Amino acid sequence: MPALSPTLLHALEQAVGPAGVIRSADAMQPYLRDWRNAYRGQAALVLRPASTDQVAEVVRLCHAAGVALVPQGGNTGLCGGAVPDASGTQVVLSLTRMNAIRAIDPANETITVEAGVLLQHLQEAAAEVGRLFPLSLGAEGSCTVGGNLATNAGGTAVLRYGNMRDLALGLEVVLPDGRVWHGLRGLRKDNTGYDLKHLFIGAEGTLGVITAAVLKLFPAIASRATAWAAVPSPQAAVALIGRLRGVCGDRLSGFELMSRQSVEFVQRHVPGCAERFSQAHPWYVLIELSDALANAPLAELLESSLGGALEQGEVLDAVVAASQTQVAALWKLREGISEAQNHEGPSLKHDISVPVSSIPAFIEATDRQLRAALPGLRIVAYGHVGDGNLHYNLSKPEGSDDAAFKAEAERLMQVIYAATLALGGSISAEHGLGQAKREAAQQYKAPLELELMRTLKQALDPAGLMNPGKVV
Ligand code: FAD
Ligand code: MLT
Ligand code: ZN
Repeated sequence: MPALSPTLLHALEQAVGPAGVIRSADAMQPYLRDWRNAYRGQAALVLRPASTDQVAEVVRLCHAAGVALVPQGGNTGLCGGAVPDASGTQVVLSLTRMNAIRAIDPANETITVEAGVLLQHLQEAAAEVGRLFPLSLGAEGSCTVGGNLATNAGGTAVLRYGNMRDLALGLEVVLPDGRVWHGLRGLRKDNTGYDLKHLFIGAEGTLGVITAAVLKLFPAIASRATAWAAVPSPQAAVALIGRLRGVCGDRLSGFELMSRQSVEFVQRHVPGCAERFSQAHPWYVLIELSDALANAPLAELLESSLGGALEQGEVLDAVVAASQTQVAALWKLREGISEAQNHEGPSLKHDISVPVSSIPAFIEATDRQLRAALPGLRIVAYGHVGDGNLHYNLSKPEGSDDAAFKAEAERLMQVIYAATLALGGSISAEHGLGQAKREAAQQYKAPLELELMRTLKQALDPAGLMNPGKVV
């Protein structure tokens, strides 16, 4: 396909102004590869509109000319969804200039933000009015609200507050033909037919461009307690969740599991992450309790629960953070895993979920089969176990060849996905399909589900110009 016609190019430049156009090959580079450098593409152009009207005009012009668009936020996605294909004919539509907080309504407990607002800025804006926006994940300093919505992001507080789908009340979306759906309603009850926002949440930019959202706010957290504990097995970790829920109820706001291999990688590559205990253990958990009530006795609750668990052998050792610095250090041990694994050569990422009760069976069966399939394989299993979500990531055997390891990707993936399916699980818990798992979804989703997804895509984007090659 030829490059964009001079007439279209001129019209697009008029639509977004000189500050919104990136054409030089060098300046486009960061928009053409993903965070892990696992996916690379080419683009005809990168456009950075500054308003919904500008987005609508760009989409309308591209639709009329048959040019495909790839929406992009912070480009931290882990499935290659925001990276254009190799043709050089697609236009990357970056939303990062649309970064206004449009309104805060503390009485309605809502905030209205544009798609390019960084998640961290959203959290800060909520805190300024004494509220909490609870979505929290390792990339929060660089991912955007639009990307969070488009991937239905999860993270470390889903246990208590749900994922992005649960946090959104209304959306503003530019449809694939350039029309704008004004759905920015801040209503908790609205049963006027199909709930259209859910079409676009988790659609990874394949059904339209999200330009703004009304999101829920919650009471600010006034008390918090954080612990790091060693556990003998995933079974013990699951038992501990039940114990903590029984005692602390909804105050249990985070429960993350990490294999020893995951923690060793962080200790090796991230400064300031020393071993917390006198000896290494097979599994670790990070626990967080929180409450809107000031001076809630959360540390005492946590200590007594962990004491009971120690007596029962569910916990081998534990430490409750005594300061904000210690809390940050414990979270660094957890959040550093993705980054640390990048230093160990190519990683094969698998983001699966099974019922929480099936986590121990899943790990036992999958570990055993994978070790038999590739001796020396380093299994970096960790994640949001309170949601039944594991990042079952693999690093090559020490000293082995990168290419030989990548050649095993398909075989190892089949082992993991077969075990996931056998337990009624999902091959993508929170990262989406993007281009990474589009093929796998064809194999692992039910034919009727795939047919319904294609029907929706055809209805909203019959020309197939909105992020083609992703999801469906
Ligand atoms: P991008 O990467 O830019 O885009 C992601 C997808 O959304 C693409 O398909 C893109 O086309 C589409 N998109 C982006 N903006 C729009 C828009 N405005 N309208 C329509 N479509 C759009 N994810 C989790 O869920 N939980 C985690 O715990 C987590 N931890 C992470 C930790 C690290 C270190 C990293 C690098 C990533 C992590 N992620 C996690 C993945 C990623 O951060 C999230 O998926 C995030 O929500 C993506 O936001 P983004 O702005 O970077 O989106
Ligand atoms: C995380 O929870 O750290 C990310 O979602 C997982 C990853 O980077 O694979
Ligand atoms: Zn995660």
